[in-house]
Amino acid sequence: MKIAVILGTRPEIIKMAPVIKELERKKADFFILHTGQHYSYELDEVFFEQLTLPRPEYNLDVGSGSHGEATGKMLIGIEKTLKEAKPDAVLVEGDTNSILAGALAAAKLGIRVGHVEAGLRSYDRTMPEEINRVLTDHISDYLFAPTPQAREILRGEGIPGEKIFITGNTIVDAVNQNLELSRSKADILDSLGLKPDGYFLVTLHRQENVDSRARFASILEGLKRVAAEFNMPVFYPVHPRSKKMMAEFGLGPGNIVLAEPVDFLAFLQLESRARLILTDSGGVQEEACILKVPCVTLRDNTERPETVAVGANIIAGSKAENIVRAVREMLKRERDWDNPFGDGRAAERVVATLEGKL
Ligand code: UD1
Ligand code: UDP
Repeated sequence: MKIAVILGTRPEIIKMAPVIKELERKKADFFILHTGQHYSYELDEVFFEQLTLPRPEYNLDVGSGSHGEATGKMLIGIEKTLKEAKPDAVLVEGDTNSILAGALAAAKLGIRVGHVEAGLRSYDRTMPEEINRVLTDHISDYLFAPTPQAREILRGEGIPGEKIFITGNTIVDAVNQNLELSRSKADILDSLGLKPDGYFLVTLHRQENVDSRARFASILEGLKRVAAEFNMPVFYPVHPRSKKMMAEFGLGPGNIVLAEPVDFLAFLQLESRARLILTDSGGVQEEACILKVPCVTLRDNTERPETVAVGANIIAGSKAENIVRAVREMLKRERDWDNPFGDGRAAERVVATLEGKL
């Protein structure tokens, strides 16, 4: 049995890391195919180094481009590679263009596809990620649903129950495996002049937020008001898409503290010590919930409704006053919610299930 792990962006590297580690532990025959969607050191290589992952056997180096162009280049490169390497199954994770290209190329070649983190839905088809999720789920053979709710969504779309496996989310595995280690990065706070429980942590990079001047400006205004009202630094490691759009729109940070994206151990440390996290990231919503740090989501919807249901997250949208109100509300809440994303053994289940099927 030979498995191809196809990935291309920061969150896929982080969330696939426990699966790759499990494949290594079991001495499985596998290789990594990197599309090259993310290529900057701080979005890519740093995670391979820090999480001690094997280097990708193939890197397609597709780089950035429009959705169609980038996805098309990936499809061509992935098909060629799969024909050459002849894996029995392909594993993809999440909702990016890279995973849609990987799943589609494999499915057309009759290679079985396993989708890790299947069954998430924002029900917002204007998001590129929603299109990627829906299409990938519907061409996958093994759907690894993180929660019972995700399984029900898939069943509701007519996907047979025998294809769906509830595994938990591999982000719990990744947090458990790295939180201890991240404590060795405790000095990251000192070096940034931040005090435990004395700052807000922000990430913001979604196309729908940062590619619209009005929406991006309104969210930044909300963040500036939060910094002023609570008299605490708002620390924002900026994704390159957001950096580019801030420059293009001429948007200034005001009292928000901007930084380059940081490595995973440093980011876990920053998350776990934050007073509250504001984000539009999927993975960061989950991590905040797991780490019991209150979260305010800077979007109109979420495909992680479990975080809201347990009381760990509020969906604030993009209006400045709603962002401030959501922060006030979340700061009042007890941090006593349960983690809905599993026991940290998702990767084990994914690999065992796949082995049992091939
Ligand atoms: C992609 C995913 C998004 C995911 C995010 C994780 C899609 C449709 N979007 O968004 O779901 O949340 O990754 O971070 O797949 N850039 C760099 N260096 C890089 C990569 C990108 O500078 O290594 C810049 C380029 O200017 C590029 C822009 O970021 O044009 C956007 O990159 P792209 O990969 O298209 O989308 P992301 O916003 O990263
Ligand atoms: N992350 C990181 N450094 C940063 C910001 C985020 O290591 O400066 C990690 C974070 O811990 C999470 C992942 O990146 O595991 C989330 O990726 P991203 O927000 O890019 O994508 P999304 O989850 O929205 O798809």
